[in-house]
Amino acid sequence: MTDLNLARELKALLPADAAEFLRGAAAAAAARGWRLYLVGGAVRDLLLGRSGGDLDLSVEGDAIELAEALAASPPDVNVHHRFNTARLFWDGYVIDIARSRQETYPRPGALPSTRPGPIIQDLARRDFTINAMAVSLNPDDFGRLIDPCGGRPDLESKLIRVLHVRSFIDDATRLWRGVRYEQRLGFKIEPMTLDLLQRGLPLLETITADRLRYELECVLKEPAPEKVFRRAGELGLLRTWHPALRSDQWLMDACSRLRSLVEQPPPEAYLALLAWRLDASHREEFIGRLRLTKHQARAVRDAGKLVQAEATLTAVGTKPSLVHHLLDGLVDEALTAALAAFSRGAAYYVERFQGEWRCAAPELTGEDLKRLGVSRGPDIKRLLEDLRDRRLDGPIGTRGAEEAFVRDWLAGR
Ligand code: CTP
Repeated sequence: MTDLNLARELKALLPADAAEFLRGAAAAAAARGWRLYLVGGAVRDLLLGRSGGDLDLSVEGDAIELAEALAASPPDVNVHHRFNTARLFWDGYVIDIARSRQETYPRPGALPSTRPGPIIQDLARRDFTINAMAVSLNPDDFGRLIDPCGGRPDLESKLIRVLHVRSFIDDATRLWRGVRYEQRLGFKIEPMTLDLLQRGLPLLETITADRLRYELECVLKEPAPEKVFRRAGELGLLRTWHPALRSDQWLMDACSRLRSLVEQPPPEAYLALLAWRLDASHREEFIGRLRLTKHQARAVRDAGKLVQAEATLTAVGTKPSLVHHLLDGLVDEALTAALAAFSRGAAYYVERFQGEWRCAAPELTGEDLKRLGVSRGPDIKRLLEDLRDRRLDGPIGTRGAEEAFVRDWLAGR
């Protein structure tokens, strides 16, 4: 326990309306005889002087009833009866409210069984000391820090430390979480935790593809995912996604180049870079192992198509129409990744494609072609593509020239 009070930090780092909302939420809880706490990452970030992110609340009472009482309208709440949790969408914030609980894990990889418990036990079931702190929101001690596991000293020493030796056995996704926090915050995993983490690697086999994919998605949303890739590579975690993945200097450079070229690169662009150098069969194994979503899988597959296209795109004088044929239909995130992965020459064509050539179209429409005498069917599509290519490459620049081309084509049949 500690006597530190964070009321001032709450006021300074949270927008006034959010702080007001939290006080109101605690009053609503108090009216029902319950106590309410801010928990997890928001407390860690508050102590680090960082703001932003979702708010996690823990209530020693019924989370669903509280969320429903706080919601402006019913569609603003999603509830989960099994764990007595609710997600509240309030004025642009995502606020997760959970019943304060204790957990037991029936077997590695399984979801925990839970029962209500006081805040101290709720904190004791968490992943790392820096995430196992709470701030009281209750009227009688608003702002009081509750830190039973030594989170604050670890924050000061910049250490990632599990609460107990079974932590990774309880939940192997914490292996990824530990590396993510270490790299995001510039901390170090403390030696005993590191030892447990390395011994826990086989536990990743026990978690489902969907949970593994969720961890991948979290990594891709980090400010510099390549740092997590590199550390995961060093520690042997990366190979649990796929043994052929490499987190070498090429990947470090490509990811940071991506950020220098694009403001806030999309997660799938990092994913495309991660998978850039996999061969076709490894790509499919990677997609299957993590059950990637359709869109993610397309980014990974399109990365493969881009790798194949690079030689053609590097050649001097490649025609815009050929670039269009090679790149049309590829997902934008893979194209964005190519800007960072390709040589300058090839990247130049990708940029031109994204900026101008992708939208190229003839002035004539299918209807115009019919009026000129082209019969319905595949000829229309082929001619429109042909006209677009001629627009792109230059020989045709006006509507009149397009019509003349179509007339010649009709005459030559
Ligand atoms: N938590 C845990 N074990 C997990 C996942 C979550 O103990 N496998 C706990 C941690 O206390 C964590 C909190 O639940 O702080 C909320 O989880 P999450 O929203 O995933 O993380 P945040 O700490 O909020 O971090 P981030 O900044 O990455 O959102």
